[in-house]
Amino acid sequence: MEFSVVIAAAGSGSRAGAGPAKQWRLLAGKPVLLWSVEGLAAAGAQEIVVAVSSGEEARAEAALTSVRQVRVVTGGAERAHSVRLGLAAMADAPPGAVLIHDAARPFVTSRHVEPLLTALEAADGAVPVLPVADTLKRESDQTGLTTVSRDGLFRVQTPQAFRYPILARAYEAWDGPEPPTDDAAAVERAGGRVVATPGDPMLMKLTYPEDFVMAEALAGQTRSIRIGQGFDAHRFGPGDGVWLCGLKIPHDHGLIGHSDADAGLHALTDAILGAVAEGDIGQHFPPSDPQWRGASSDRFVQHAVGLVHTAGARVVNVDLTLICEAPKIGPHRQAMRARIAEIMGLPIERVSVKATTTEAMGFTGRREGLAAQAVVSVEAP
Ligand code: CTP
Ligand code: MG
Repeated sequence: MEFSVVIAAAGSGSRAGAGPAKQWRLLAGKPVLLWSVEGLAAAGAQEIVVAVSSGEEARAEAALTSVRQVRVVTGGAERAHSVRLGLAAMADAPPGAVLIHDAARPFVTSRHVEPLLTALEAADGAVPVLPVADTLKRESDQTGLTTVSRDGLFRVQTPQAFRYPILARAYEAWDGPEPPTDDAAAVERAGGRVVATPGDPMLMKLTYPEDFVMAEALAGQTRSIRIGQGFDAHRFGPGDGVWLCGLKIPHDHGLIGHSDADAGLHALTDAILGAVAEGDIGQHFPPSDPQWRGASSDRFVQHAVGLVHTAGARVVNVDLTLICEAPKIGPHRQAMRARIAEIMGLPIERVSVKATTTEAMGFTGRREGLAAQAVVSVEAP
């Protein structure tokens, strides 16, 4: 389902302590607002209307230039007012579905959006909810503290998803004494059907100063480790040496292949591509393409590392195993590690090169060729 987004980012963050309003504070070096915007852009939002305080429009434009589908509008004095102004900005070309999100919930991802859109297919609105874990009390002058049943009570988060015309009309019809504190309240009051989807502690709202301490810790965990593996083999042929791990190693044979036949770097390239699910070396450098004849395999590795960086990720470490009876790898192992580290721009401690034989069994055992396998780990957003 296609959807657009309104992000409420026009608050003053009065409960969050001194300093800039919370949407402008940095989390792991990035403004809180940009976290929210990037999360929803990655989830596939068509348009993201960001409502900011009057006077902060230029600052928002500058902070959000990296996300093409952003439109900045001026918000209002209350959250509900900011949301209404955001909705109004979409009225000329209204989306079918709209998500309303607090800028102050930076860890939103596509994982949160998908269940909302699915639930919206059979409802006017869908909101993420969490059970109340703590015991609830009410305090009054007469009775002191008394316990409130938490049966049927939920904490509600954002993003909240609505059919655009229903939410827009519900806000127009709002006649409560105070503005609603969430958007579902407007739809509920207008008689619409709002359903719950599972909430997530990661959708926490930054409200108090201590929330920023927790969020900094969580920000470190929003990157995941991915693993890729690669394998390659080449046949021995006439020659006086083999290319392995970017070095020419003297040998009584060469290796047959279209490029330099560096099985080590080919396995490594496939492992890097695998970690970011970018296909395999043959797709990027087809053997049928004459431009790769005799090509130095450094280029393949560098291309794959470039794709990792394009995905906003970085290589963490490499572990490569060469499988052959000969040439002997031991004497070259350190130089191979250094060469791979150089090609990939990694510290040498993160590059491992190992070697084994197959005890005279199989094609490597019969010295028909050699093989290599590689594992690469990548840290990705
Ligand atoms: N918000 C808004 N316009 C307002 C008030 C709030 O767009 N007039 C936004 C905030 O920027 C925030 C979200 O609504 O992203 C949730 O509101 P809240 O957590 O209350 O933020 P603030 O109002 O900024 O904080 P406080 O209430 O502590 O002043
Ligand atoms: Mg507020």
